[in-house]
Amino acid sequence: MDRIRIVGGARLTGTIPISGAKNATLPLMIASLLTEEPLILENVPRLADVIQLQRILGNHGVDVMINGKRPGDDPNAGRTITLSAKTIVDTTAPYELVSKMRASFWVVAPLVARMGEARVSLPGGCAIGTRPVDLLIMALEALGADIEIDGGYVIARAKKGLRGGEINFPKVTVGGTHTALMAAALARGTTVIENAAREPEIGDVADCLNKMGAKITGAGTARIVVEGVARLSGARHSVLPDRIETGTYAMAVAMTGGDVLLQNARPELLQAALDVLVEAGVQVTPTNEGIRIARNGAGLSPVTVSTAPFPGFPTDLQAQLMALMTRAKGTSRITETIFENRFMHVQELARLGARIRLDGDTATIEGVDRLKGAPVMATDLRASVSLVIAGLAAEGETTVNRVYHLDRGFERLEDKLAACGAAIARISE
Ligand code: UD1
Repeated sequence: MDRIRIVGGARLTGTIPISGAKNATLPLMIASLLTEEPLILENVPRLADVIQLQRILGNHGVDVMINGKRPGDDPNAGRTITLSAKTIVDTTAPYELVSKMRASFWVVAPLVARMGEARVSLPGGCAIGTRPVDLLIMALEALGADIEIDGGYVIARAKKGLRGGEINFPKVTVGGTHTALMAAALARGTTVIENAAREPEIGDVADCLNKMGAKITGAGTARIVVEGVARLSGARHSVLPDRIETGTYAMAVAMTGGDVLLQNARPELLQAALDVLVEAGVQVTPTNEGIRIARNGAGLSPVTVSTAPFPGFPTDLQAQLMALMTRAKGTSRITETIFENRFMHVQELARLGARIRLDGDTATIEGVDRLKGAPVMATDLRASVSLVIAGLAAEGETTVNRVYHLDRGFERLEDKLAACGAAIARISE
């Protein structure tokens, strides 16, 4: 199994290109199930989760084509993929496939909307709390689907098609909102989604669905209205930049010091995180090309932060911020409000010398003068990358085990950091 080896201490300088967003790519790929015509997605990142979803969609009969490059094209630019769901050959998403990635459960919505039935295994995914799907099921029921749970599978049926309805989420849910949008797009009549997630990836998917002929207004606000249509067509759509990758590298630069342009990054996608970095003493400069992050000389100030749904501070940057705050001058507090049990990085950061106390959903971090390299391992995607950030500042050698978590969500992480001067390499065995 691959490992990442880091020798800490190098400052980061240069340019890091930001890839297309994983959390938009996955639902966009799933949206291809809604139409018989080809959906062309540009700026798709090379990630293990994307490959896994190709397998899952292939099982339903989706033909996935990855376009080749022309001479002179940047070999690392995002890919263009074409997904054609002309014929759905199977409406079952089996356990072996769905258990590897939670978002694949979302296929339930386009399958039941287009085919009138879906049989989808209850999901697995990152080990960060229980992560139920009750709200996704509630949304489908509100649109007229009959739901049965049998042998670990959710069976959704709507033999006469879905019909528009009112969905009022008691809690903000990204997956619930994606599910509701995809199902409502092909339902008869009007659907109103209240307390919808406002994450930028929801807006990106709604834009793509509208290009496919859907009638969605209000995406990006808490109230989305969908006028159902009888059929959707193909479209071409470019995936928006990854705000979590952007925030992660911003924190890496804040950690090591230096000056890096995060190319293609868009500040409005992560303003809350950028504000926290400014409060910590980091220079953040939006430019025409992206966002410049710099820290020269000045130490880091501690911060107090709670995660929240967008536009709040994202839970997907919580672990990275915690790594950063291990080196602040003073005491920081980070409260996790979205997922219980999303603190698995704490004990691994402690192995590098961090001083962190956990009290329920709040971590108190006493900044230390130095971290020392050690072998570490992580159990989820964002926790793994927080260990990389800590390793970049730790004295000596840090090896991060179980790199497959990183490969799920970060494209060429070690190449991007090494190009800016980090001593980081993948060790393949
Ligand atoms: C998505 C993101 C993930 C991010 C999370 C929160 C993707 C592929 N994944 O995950 O990276 O960390 O949003 O921003 O986009 N909940 C329920 N019942 C449900 C559904 C959710 O109680 O049926 C709860 C969850 O346990 C959690 C909260 O709602 O406490 C938010 O979860 P949700 O927004 O649905 O996260 P995901 O869509 O799984």
